[in-house]
Amino acid sequence: MNDSLLKNLKIIGDSRGQLVALESNIEIPFDIKRVFYIYGTKEGINRGKHSHYTTKQFLVSVKGYCKITLDNGETKKTYDLNEPNLGLFQDKMIWGEMHDFSEDCVLMVLASEFYDEKDYIREYKKFIEEVKNGK
Ligand code: TYD
Repeated sequence: MNDSLLKNLKIIGDSRGQLVALESNIEIPFDIKRVFYIYGTKEGINRGKHSHYTTKQFLVSVKGYCKITLDNGETKKTYDLNEPNLGLFQDKMIWGEMHDFSEDCVLMVLASEFYDEKDYIREYKKFIEEVKNGK
């Protein structure tokens, strides 16, 4: 797992406050087809716990903070998303788990594909098998 997955996003600030702009194939390393966001996460809840065959994701905690653990089947690394100008790239075939959400966390996820349940691997054992198969 590589530190370059966590990116510092450019803050465009002036006397009124801050703005961050994200564009397909510039800050975000794919064409954005879908955006979803997670908020109101109850204490102690972990989300995600899946990987995707083709979907790539880019995660930004636009408010509050959470942690994301990425796992490529061999190594795991946990990233702190604790600033609205930090973005984490989760490639396809990477197992991801979101945890330690603050009560006010709004986690925005930009995705490279439309929602398709068939693109999910929700069983860790199956994920490891698919990694070994070179998927
Ligand atoms: P789920 O995959 O459990 O969310 P998480 O991985 O964050 O824990 O998704 C919860 C529900 O929302 C599930 O019924 C699928 C649905 N969903 C959509 O309809 N569209 C989407 O883009 C996403 C991410 C989920």
